[in-house]
Amino acid sequence: MDLGFIGLGAMGQLIVPRLMAAGHAVTGWNRSRDKADDLIAQGMRWADTPRAVAAKSEIVFSIVTDAKAVRACALGPDGVVAGIKRGGIYIDMSTIEPDESRAIAAEFDKAGAVMLDGPLSGSPVTVKAGQASVMIGGDEAAFERARPVLLAIGPKVTRIGSNGLACQMKIAVNLLLMVEVIAFGEAVALAEKGGVSRESAVDAILKSVAASPVLGYRGPFILEGKMPEVPLADVTLQQKDMMLALNLGRRLGSPVPLAAAANEMMNACRGLGIDGNDFVVAHQVYRRLGGQE
Ligand SMILES: NC(=O)c1ccc[n+]([C@@H]2O[C@H](COP(=O)([O-])OP(=O)(O)OC[C@H]3O[C@@H](n4cnc5c(N)ncnc54)[C@H](OP(=O)(O)O)[C@@H]3O)[C@@H](O)[C@H]2O)c1
Repeated sequence: MDLGFIGLGAMGQLIVPRLMAAGHAVTGWNRSRDKADDLIAQGMRWADTPRAVAAKSEIVFSIVTDAKAVRACALGPDGVVAGIKRGGIYIDMSTIEPDESRAIAAEFDKAGAVMLDGPLSGSPVTVKAGQASVMIGGDEAAFERARPVLLAIGPKVTRIGSNGLACQMKIAVNLLLMVEVIAFGEAVALAEKGGVSRESAVDAILKSVAASPVLGYRGPFILEGKMPEVPLADVTLQQKDMMLALNLGRRLGSPVPLAAAANEMMNACRGLGIDGNDFVVAHQVYRRLGGQE
């Protein structure tokens, strides 16, 4: 199938090769062109605007930072909506506000095309391992058409419901993930303060019933006391999702006190100037608060 791909950041860089490996022809675009170089060398075609990408594609994907970035790529005279074929499908995989996703979907509806929200749960590690899960919001028939392509990205593809509901679910999943990773740092710091070695603490947690995939691949970062050179999700990117959870909680009247606590730990990372790291760096905040360094 002829596919389009907008946004070649940490996630896009790894999703495009999976689509090409499944036999699809991919035309891509990124705001900063240099990020496309490796993918072009692997066979991806380049187009100069999201509009030009859409004109060549049956299904167009995007995965960019936030709703402002999605609007910049999807709407306007050079956006996906200006080039998409009638009956074409646009799937935005970014983690954004459900209402923003619904509003952008309405513009595609006016253009005779279908937009699905398709946020992805996983990290660059899970995408590379072919273990990412994709949630879909929007038209069921379009989902069925896109499903074989989505399965090239990850094996777990689920339609959650109508437009915006996959974004809603992704925020809920990320709330759980954020609290879990930050509580991991809290638990390790507590054990260390009482005299357990960091190695034993991480090992015991990863062997316990509280272990999970996300703790499994972040454990080594805590253990080595140094963060990955390229963060899986840095403090700023992850804090964006905490803000999404806090705002959604306020709008819906559903309390999210643990998201609020996790958000405060991200503020502490900022204050200490360690926010350029993966957000598991919260472990170091707990150590400092407890007088361990
Ligand atoms: N990293 C993860 O573990 C993870 C997991 C699941 C979901 N997500 C979600 O996936 C999305 C992308 O994450 P990522 O890790 O790939 O982030 P990233 O590496 O920071 O890449 C961000 C991408 O967005 C583009 N962008 C930002 N603002 C833009 C604008 N105004 N106009 C056009 N393009 C713009 C960037 O273009 P430039 O290259 O020009 O800056 C880049 O391609 C986010 O919504 C994130 O929450 C991330």
